[in-house]
Amino acid sequence: MDGLLVILSLFLAVTGATRVSYEGYRVLEVFPTEDATVHFLHDLYEEEYLNIDFWSEPRGVFSPIIFHVNPIRYDWVTAQLDAEGIKYTIIVENLQSMIDAETERLSSRDPTTQAIEDFADYHRFDEMMSWITNITTSRCGGNRCSLFNVGTSFEGRSIRGIKIGTPGTDKRAVWVDCGIHAREWIAPATCTYFIWRLSQDYDSDAETRRLVDTYDWYIQPVVNPDGYEYTWDVDRLWRKTRSNYNDILGCIGTDGNRNYDSFWGSDLGGASNDPCSNTYHGPSVFSEPECAAQRDFMTPLRDSFIALWTMHSRGQWMLHPWGNYDIPENEAELDQVGQAIVDAIFEVHGVTYIHGQSAVLLYPTQGSSNDWAYAPRGHEGGDGLGIEYAYTPELRPDPNGEDAWLLPPEQIRPVGEECWAGLKAMVREIESIG
Ligand code: ARG
Ligand code: ZN
Repeated sequence: MDGLLVILSLFLAVTGATRVSYEGYRVLEVFPTEDATVHFLHDLYEEEYLNIDFWSEPRGVFSPIIFHVNPIRYDWVTAQLDAEGIKYTIIVENLQSMIDAETERLSSRDPTTQAIEDFADYHRFDEMMSWITNITTSRCGGNRCSLFNVGTSFEGRSIRGIKIGTPGTDKRAVWVDCGIHAREWIAPATCTYFIWRLSQDYDSDAETRRLVDTYDWYIQPVVNPDGYEYTWDVDRLWRKTRSNYNDILGCIGTDGNRNYDSFWGSDLGGASNDPCSNTYHGPSVFSEPECAAQRDFMTPLRDSFIALWTMHSRGQWMLHPWGNYDIPENEAELDQVGQAIVDAIFEVHGVTYIHGQSAVLLYPTQGSSNDWAYAPRGHEGGDGLGIEYAYTPELRPDPNGEDAWLLPPEQIRPVGEECWAGLKAMVREIESIG
């Protein structure tokens, strides 16, 4: 090979510049009216080799099921549906063209002129990390913000967050993290929106001032930076971490939100032990450095947290524990606060979110960070942090929206605005309960 080619292929290998293509992938929607349909699609879901990726999981009758199908499997899958008498509609003809439109838009973006606080588009991990550094030095009255280091990702990125709070002793705290699932881009963007409001409105808004004087706000914009960067460079629909324990199978990554110590590895369903699955729970509990780092950072602070949000998309839900069908001890309060949050969200742009128990509204999960954060110490499912108000917001779009993880950037600001109202309403409601 001549020198230039060697250099070029080295460059490609190092940057991973070959993108995963979804050329010819179709997105199908089924609206089930019978249990049998839900079960049938759920069985397809379990067949990892089919490589069907669910955008809206089979949850029950009258709730749409959306999934994309590889062109190689398309005839087989639709023949199965036809044989079962299951009707479907094609909602996206070619998934790659949606991704191309986004890539094109982003490649014409100038990150040096487009500030994060414009909320005009999505940003790379490094941009967000330098931005929180700038906020800390320039926007926080000198002493209200500090950076914290959660740890280091599998690929060696250092994972930081920002703490916003007027210095004081024995302050209670609120935790917000975003981006444990790589492709859910609206989540990190919303974390940056919260950071902007909390740092910017201190002098101009009495409520924000009170919130920052009373509480410490810990905000971690990207839990899974390796996966997030991978969605920019290689595979827009990547969900997991980028750890590699399974060279033989060639399957990479763990679902971070199945890796925490809460019923991890139980046979209750809702997580997979197949390394090729999108919900792979990892080779051991807290195997993922990103999740272990959160555990180690948060555990010493656990008595200070009054509430936690761990942000995902999509579906417009405000989920509370458990990921199984156990009844949470403070169910009434979780519902009361959940209602206050979704009411406040609705007030802003008229968008409906539904609150309720994760397993009931969505589907069962094991090993989620939300359940681990909620579980009291010594809980049978695993030793948790004991945070009484722990929610998983599933941001826009609604479960039928074909945009799914490719939420148009015009929605970054409105999503930020409605969630910020929801976050403030949560704190007020918790205070009213006492
Ligand atoms: N979409 C998320 C996931 O699949 C939701 C999990 C929420 N689980 C919970 N126990 N709150 O990971
Ligand atoms: Zn998610």
